[in-house]
Amino acid sequence: MKKRYTLEQKKWDSPIEHAMPAQARVPASFNIGNVPIAPATVLAPMAGVTDTVFRRFIKNASQFSASSSTTDVEATQTNQQSGCGLIMTEFTSADGLSRMRETKRKRYLTYYDDEHPIAAQLFGSNPETLADSARIVQDAGFDIVDLNLGCPAKRVVACNGGSGLLKDLPQIERIFKAIRATVTIPFTVKFRMGWNDAHIVCVELAKLAEDNGLNACALHARTREDGYTGQARWEYIAAVKDAVRIPVIGNGDIESAADVQRRMTTGVQGVMIGRAAMCAPWIFREIKHFLATGTLPPPLAPEAQWAHILRHCRMDVTRTGSELHSMQSMRTQLMHYSRGMAEAKHLRAKFSHVSSLTELERIAADHLTRVAEPVLAA
Ligand SMILES: Cc1cc2nc3c(=O)[nH]c(=O)nc-3n(C[C@H](O)[C@H](O)[C@H](O)COP(=O)(O)O)c2cc1C
Repeated sequence: MKKRYTLEQKKWDSPIEHAMPAQARVPASFNIGNVPIAPATVLAPMAGVTDTVFRRFIKNASQFSASSSTTDVEATQTNQQSGCGLIMTEFTSADGLSRMRETKRKRYLTYYDDEHPIAAQLFGSNPETLADSARIVQDAGFDIVDLNLGCPAKRVVACNGGSGLLKDLPQIERIFKAIRATVTIPFTVKFRMGWNDAHIVCVELAKLAEDNGLNACALHARTREDGYTGQARWEYIAAVKDAVRIPVIGNGDIESAADVQRRMTTGVQGVMIGRAAMCAPWIFREIKHFLATGTLPPPLAPEAQWAHILRHCRMDVTRTGSELHSMQSMRTQLMHYSRGMAEAKHLRAKFSHVSSLTELERIAADHLTRVAEPVLAA
């Protein structure tokens, strides 16, 4: 008797076609101030993840062509081809930035021309320091400056930064005013719903942002106390959307184009995607396909998935100049990629000690042979 491997598939790999109601479509574009975001999808800022290599890699993996289901992994991306409309840096400490020497600042604020439009995210609690850092961001050529009012990390909250500020709306207003008075580039805020369920401030905060001239806001629909537990509460995103006229970007638990369709009924202008992009960087491509055609694209073939994964690693080696260093630091990312791939457990065991590109290429070749012949003798 023959036994078949079950090829694990991600939800977003489903080839089932869905008719998409017009009102549930992701808008083709929206504007943050004078910066067009097209399509209306944003890569979430993620500390330790969204460095310049990952951001450029995401743009490439998001490549979309209505006429083809394949992607040219090595092609240079234009914004018109990419399914990801806006990328953001991981958060940077305003205190640190304003104290750093010019050369060190450049390292923190490095980005490449093909990353535009790009937003730099800052955290901190002192209005003058934040305004000073926002000016540095503007001078560095970023398109947008974003303020982080969501980070739940203890070391950030302890200095009243990130979600720590959610308990102090008057201080938030002082920060809004100071930054707005200093920079002319679009200014946005990313926040959580509030400190906890007894202290929900998202609607008030969004109105404060609008009243102080911010150009858009993004809500991760959890409280600080929630951390990452439970489900993102999109009804709060809908409430924020109803309360303000500036663009609202919804964030939390989007894992597929079908999730986007469901969430667009809140009326948000854009969606932001974080963790799902760490596991399936081609998610933006699938969303754009869905947006353009109303159907889910065919699943990305394992060969194409591997081509993307290898490209990501090669890009990192080029950046660091050390294959060993890059491959060691890519192990965590490789673990993310294994989720949803066939024989994930087997892959994870190999990834845990991979230390060269040649070794990874061998793992890829072996894996492709195994998934191409998924029939096992009992
Ligand atoms: C590893 C990691 C690092 C993160 N770093 C940041 C950050 O620097 N700034 C920020 O605003 N949010 C940060 N977040 C939160 C994400 O931007 C996003 O709001 C959250 O993951 C929810 O979206 P998702 O469900 O699509 O992942 C981080 C999340 C993760 C998983």
